[in-house]
Amino acid sequence: KRILVLISGSGSNLQVILDSCTSGRIPGEVVGVISNKADAYGLVRAKEAGVATSVLAQQQFANRDDYDLALQALMADYKPDLVVLAGFMRILSAPLVRHFAGRMINIHPSLLPKYQGLHTHQRAIDAGDEEHGASVHFVTEELDGGPVILQARVPIFDGDDADEVAARVQAQEHSIYPLVVQWFCEGRLAMQEGAALLDGAVL
Ligand code: GRF
Repeated sequence: KRILVLISGSGSNLQVILDSCTSGRIPGEVVGVISNKADAYGLVRAKEAGVATSVLAQQQFANRDDYDLALQALMADYKPDLVVLAGFMRILSAPLVRHFAGRMINIHPSLLPKYQGLHTHQRAIDAGDEEHGASVHFVTEELDGGPVILQARVPIFDGDDADEVAARVQAQEHSIYPLVVQWFCEGRLAMQEGAALLDGAVL
């Protein structure tokens, strides 16, 4: 399977996906990495892995619709079977999301449906939650609202700050994201009528 990864930053999730492809655990290949930031460290990771990269900076475009038209065309050039959003910090417009429906996944640092949007770790701490985590989900038009495929839970301890919680969550992201990509590439995952299915069973 052809995997296209979209990033904006460090790309630690990209790295574990690259490593899982190299080891053969994921039966697929990362064929490209697209970033909206020219200085994203994930681009260095991609180049070191010999993967093609593209940068599409928002400054070149007047509005979101123009940007997303160009982005969708660029994405299509890579002929992806699966699009993986890995810290891509832009909201995608409805036509683009619809185009890749059932073939685009995202990782979000909360136990969805809790804490959609930004600053999830601080919000969980402020709410006094004892548990937090990360969710991998299919991307739909509802921001951070598509059907959840897999979640990982971590504890929040008294006195934790957001950085400590974020590090704990990220370690779990690095387990669950490659696993979901593996399932997809094995042909075991699908989105049907707004639900995520693994081996035909609703998750
Ligand atoms: C992850 O924590 C992910 O949950 C969020 O952005 C972060 C990306 O980290 N959406 P990295 O670029 O993969 O290191």
